Amino acid sequence: MLEASGVSKSFGGLKAVDSASLDVQAGEIVALIGPNGAGKTTLFATLAGFHRPDAGRIVFDGREITGEPPHRICAAGMVRTFQITQPFAKISVRENLMVGAYLRVDSRSEARRRAEAAATQVGMAGQLDRLGAALTVAGRKRLELARALATGPRLLLLDEVMAGLNPTEIAEIVEIIRAIRASGITILLIEHVMQAVTSLADRVYVLNQGRMIAEGTPAEIAGNSDVVEAYLGHGAAKVLRA
Ligand SMILES: Nc1ncnc2c1ncn2[C@@H]1O[C@H](COP(=O)(O)OP(=O)(O)OP(=O)(O)O)[C@@H](O)[C@H]1O
Ligand SMILES: [Mg+2]
Repeated sequence: MLEASGVSKSFGGLKAVDSASLDVQAGEIVALIGPNGAGKTTLFATLAGFHRPDAGRIVFDGREITGEPPHRICAAGMVRTFQITQPFAKISVRENLMVGAYLRVDSRSEARRRAEAAATQVGMAGQLDRLGAALTVAGRKRLELARALATGPRLLLLDEVMAGLNPTEIAEIVEIIRAIRASGITILLIEHVMQAVTSLADRVYVLNQGRMIAEGTPAEIAGNSDVVEAYLGHGAAKVLRA
């Protein structure tokens, strides 16, 4: 469904993403993990058209989309969420979601219907009339997820939708993500909450200093010494084995 090969993106002298490749098959949940500053969000932004890659090729559903703008990629069916959520504070949850829905439909009633369906999918049906500004952190994360759903994606890129949530809220989001996949939407997610990665992901990619250093099942990744060292520092894998 998605194939990225040799994607690079620099900011001045900093190679935030350095010839990274990944693929996602239809129906999968794939996780992208890596230490802070590894380049995960930059890679997502590049896949979704927010940055033009310096090198590499991105193919979505058999069509090359490299360098296309976000609205075209979103219309093609791939949409990202933002790590730092910024709901429109002065309009309701319903109206926030209608903004997403209008990407695909013109009619107000159809946008409203899609907004309400997206809210239901994330358990926010009871909060449709609340203002964006009135939401808790967990509410904002759900709204961000629902906003992406309202655009009618086939592939969702989720950037740390569990950050800042308590264990109960995390368990709820994990179930919501499972249900989204069951509804036929493929998912690529950036996540630091390893318990969620292990329980959700079919496969995991590990990015470190812009480079993809490992790919495998959650169990394979947990036993990979390069991955342990990327998180804990050089020599850590040996110390942990001793
Ligand atoms: N727009 C930008 N301009 C300049 N540098 C940037 C920009 N965006 C990201 N960077 C830098 O690129 C590197 C990768 O950042 P990125 O946000 O992609 O990492 P990340 O893996 O998502 O980290 P985190 O887990 O903390 O969210 C960092 O050194 C960051 O400071
Ligand atoms: Mg990030």
